[in-house]
Amino acid sequence: MAFSPAFLDELNHRNPIEDVVGQYVALTRKGSNLFGLCPFHGEKTASFSVKPDKGIYYCFGCHKGGGAVNFIMEIENLPYPDAVRFLAKRAGIEVPEDNRDNSQYKKKERLWALCKESARFFNDQLKTPQAQEVRAYIVKRGLSNATVTRFGLGYAPNAWTALIDAMTAKGFTKQELLEAGLVLQHKEKGTFYDRFRNRLMFPIIDVRGNVIGFGGRVMDDSTPKYLNSPETIIFNKRRNLFAMNIVKKSKQGHIILTEGYMDAIALHQYGFDCAVASLGTSLTQEHADMLSKYTDEVVLTYDGDQAGQNATKRAIPMLEKTGLRVKILQMQGAKDPDEYLHKFGADRFQNLLNGCENQAEYRLRSLQRNFDLNNDEQKVEFAKQAAELISTYSTAVERELYGMRAAEMAGLSHDVMKQEIGRAFKRRTAMQKKAQDKKNLEIAAARQPHSREIRYDNLRSAIAEETVLKMLLRENALFEKTKEVKPQDFSVPMFAKAYEALYRVWSQEHSVGIYTLSEVLTPTEMAHMTEVIQRQDHPISEEAFADCLRVILTEARKMSGVDDLKALQEQMRKKKGYGGT
Ligand code: UTP
Ligand code: MN
Repeated sequence: MAFSPAFLDELNHRNPIEDVVGQYVALTRKGSNLFGLCPFHGEKTASFSVKPDKGIYYCFGCHKGGGAVNFIMEIENLPYPDAVRFLAKRAGIEVPEDNRDNSQYKKKERLWALCKESARFFNDQLKTPQAQEVRAYIVKRGLSNATVTRFGLGYAPNAWTALIDAMTAKGFTKQELLEAGLVLQHKEKGTFYDRFRNRLMFPIIDVRGNVIGFGGRVMDDSTPKYLNSPETIIFNKRRNLFAMNIVKKSKQGHIILTEGYMDAIALHQYGFDCAVASLGTSLTQEHADMLSKYTDEVVLTYDGDQAGQNATKRAIPMLEKTGLRVKILQMQGAKDPDEYLHKFGADRFQNLLNGCENQAEYRLRSLQRNFDLNNDEQKVEFAKQAAELISTYSTAVERELYGMRAAEMAGLSHDVMKQEIGRAFKRRTAMQKKAQDKKNLEIAAARQPHSREIRYDNLRSAIAEETVLKMLLRENALFEKTKEVKPQDFSVPMFAKAYEALYRVWSQEHSVGIYTLSEVLTPTEMAHMTEVIQRQDHPISEEAFADCLRVILTEARKMSGVDDLKALQEQMRKKKGYGGT
């Protein structure tokens, strides 16, 4: 739906950008602008800026930017009309002719309210006589009352419609219960029944404090051990981590990543208020990105079994990609942190945490386990593979350090290991360069015109020329900025022709369009021009435009320099009587 300009004006006026952004990002003022850590990509230095006078935000790192509405769309993941409504609500202003029924945001608000009420209901059930078994189970699992309260644990009664009855009594519909993933519908009969029955309930809460789903554990050995809410419009497993709402306030310098609800909860109970759990799915890039917003270091405490080790291997690159430091904590004598803490206590766990390996050591040690280092042949093979592994580390310090470590493991001299790593490193960089060259060629080939009649000899300049012409056609006023550039500076003849014609018409009419070119370009050239223009590209900006002009001028000078040099060499040859060809 379209909102009236007057309303949008009022909306923007009542939602100053610095206030809106300030609710999500800690901002520091520098002159008339404010800066903070970008909430849209993991970063350690503040490249996110807010300009109150222009009503905009912009990140120099990830190039996201816009006004207050864009910010809300991005950060709350809302479509445009819902972001507008969100801000209207925030400022306490009425949205004119708002259609209340089909708003996605309104629906989300209903489901959040429903999940919150459900969590309250499950929690209240703990006190009932029927909850005897679950109370015993809570004690058996060593959960304190404080923990139960802190995580809002609850009990889903052993009945088919306990939650349905309680929630419909509060005014929620069965449809809403279905959409929140709390009930199931019988295929034939069409009747509704509770999804969670006779289970210990773990509410899942997003970083903003909304209950978005549940995990429910059986109290015996039946399966499935855990039942989780399905994906809904408010519950996205790829983007949420259990206990993140608590951990985001933690003062510890790291976040401990576990595989299970019970592991995260046990850690909190034992004083480690920085533990989260993934929600019955493997770690995703979205999880990694989110973690990097709250910490610099992640400690992985996955199970010691094969599945846990594989999960660890998968998680490392995703976490490192965001700039996070990764450490791996390995336990002996217990299969997960929950078991470990109850068996050995918090101090022992703290010791593990202090001494835990970073991922480089971990990888080296995992490699070592595959070899019998008393056997000479295997020793050589280990050294080779270790060198291969260490050559992937990007800093010389790391390669030196782990080279030494590997040499010690294999009982080889450090120099031998160093040479081996050096060779592997050279091979790797040569391969990378070759791959990069190939990629560059492919990019160049992809940018070449489809028609054989038009070639881009100077790709760098040609691409800048494309952009300049596109921007000029979309924003005629940019002709004011082209004073220095002459048609002969363009490297592609058809672009020189096009630019000359456009400039001429603009000087007379102050208005040009692609139609201006039909007269001067051949049909083939015109087809190529059209292809260039329709291609999706960056939005218009004066800086980008100026950059492109600079590229065109520099490349033009280089080319004329080459010509001058050739002419000079020619002259010299003639003088010396070499007789040039
Ligand atoms: P685990 O089987 O390792 O369970 O599953 P756990 O966390 O140690 O739980 P306890 O100690 O037996 O109570 C790890 C995680 O995998 C998900 C859950 O998120 C669980 O916490 N999972 C496991 C499921 O979603 N469904 C299942 O049936 C089992
Ligand atoms: Mn466990």
